[in-house]
Amino acid sequence: MDVRVLFNENGLSVRHMTADDYPQMAAWLSDPRVLEFYEGRDRPHDLPRVQQVFGRKLDGAVTACIVFAGEQDIGYIQFYPLAHDEKLAYGFDVAQIVYGLDQFIGEPELWNRGIGTTLMQAMMRYLSRKFRVSFVVMDPQAWNTRAIRCYEKAGFRKARRLPKHERHEGELRDCWLMVWTPEEVESNPARSGSWRTESNLTGSGSGLLGRLVKLDPRQMGGSALDILSSAVFQPTEERMSHILDAVYGSDSTTLYGLAIGPDLVAVAGIRRTSETAAELLHIAVKASERRKGNGSQLVKRVIQAENLEELVAETDRDAVNFYRRCGFTAWSLGEKYPGVERFACRWQAPVNLP
Ligand SMILES: CC(C)(COP(=O)(O)OP(=O)(O)OC[C@H]1O[C@@H](n2cnc3c(N)ncnc32)[C@H](O)[C@@H]1OP(=O)(O)O)[C@@H](O)C(=O)NCCC(=O)NCCS
Repeated sequence: MDVRVLFNENGLSVRHMTADDYPQMAAWLSDPRVLEFYEGRDRPHDLPRVQQVFGRKLDGAVTACIVFAGEQDIGYIQFYPLAHDEKLAYGFDVAQIVYGLDQFIGEPELWNRGIGTTLMQAMMRYLSRKFRVSFVVMDPQAWNTRAIRCYEKAGFRKARRLPKHERHEGELRDCWLMVWTPEEVESNPARSGSWRTESNLTGSGSGLLGRLVKLDPRQMGGSALDILSSAVFQPTEERMSHILDAVYGSDSTTLYGLAIGPDLVAVAGIRRTSETAAELLHIAVKASERRKGNGSQLVKRVIQAENLEELVAETDRDAVNFYRRCGFTAWSLGEKYPGVERFACRWQAPVNLP
């Protein structure tokens, strides 16, 4: 396959844009029917302008691509990782992997035939596979109801109205922040099927259904770090950076988060001890989100994602009942530190009887 091709799905392909595509881009971005919805009719792009705008993209953080079907180029799509300040402005945590997306189909006679929806769905699969995204965002103008309908069909949801967010044809227009998130984290492709031990792990039903996201320990800040700190004894800056570098920098450990909409509500870190077993190193729920089932939901999601048969943890008297409610067996280890009784907890998958 051509190395420039990112994917080929359902008759649609996406490839990296090159300078050879500039004349086609200039033709699309001079068509008032396209400009009405993308860039604006007051901003036609001739060849020098395309070279100036898209030349910059070819070297930058934005991946600029051409969409084609068979032999015909039909449109443009670009994606990029959101910068820290953009993530914070939209209410995401900086440790979450969030990508942005923009596109247009340059041939108006191809609009309203389901091509946009197919393209979005294929692109989401690509971004999930390639970058393990937690979220993908778009910000269509609120009056562009066809684009919004297309994105909703592809699984995006309106998250927040952004008043006067973008200048278009001389006026500041409201936009919708639209968010897509994978159904389940794809951390273990070998895993399939349903949660076979649902009844073995109780107490997870009362919170809003959250999404499991993987957190990058090198980019922890904001609420992810605050939440994790609440699971650490004396969380000084030095201690937290040691935990992130030395503990979660290792291949055997993973930091997970539970997100509801764009908000991170809980964090858990595990260390793999064998093919089927792990140790829960840290777990914490944001103070305002406790007693809603989020902690047990996160434990359950991590067990599913890692396809675990055993999960062990050590805790104190205050938290031992949380583990019991999650289906763990717990027993006292005695006074491990002066005046502090510790408990060992173990969750095991139920034996499947023939
Ligand atoms: C936005 C765009 C990529 C969508 O691609 P598409 O192939 O036209 O989209 P689809 O055919 O998959 O879906 C469009 C849906 O919107 C509906 N629709 C069309 N016009 C509409 C309108 N005025 N209001 C509401 N819905 C409308 C269609 O009926 C269809 O929904 P349905 O399948 O339920 O009937 C494409 O139309 C485009 O390039 N438009 C111009 C540029 C643009 O707007 N870019 C996006 C900037 S955010």
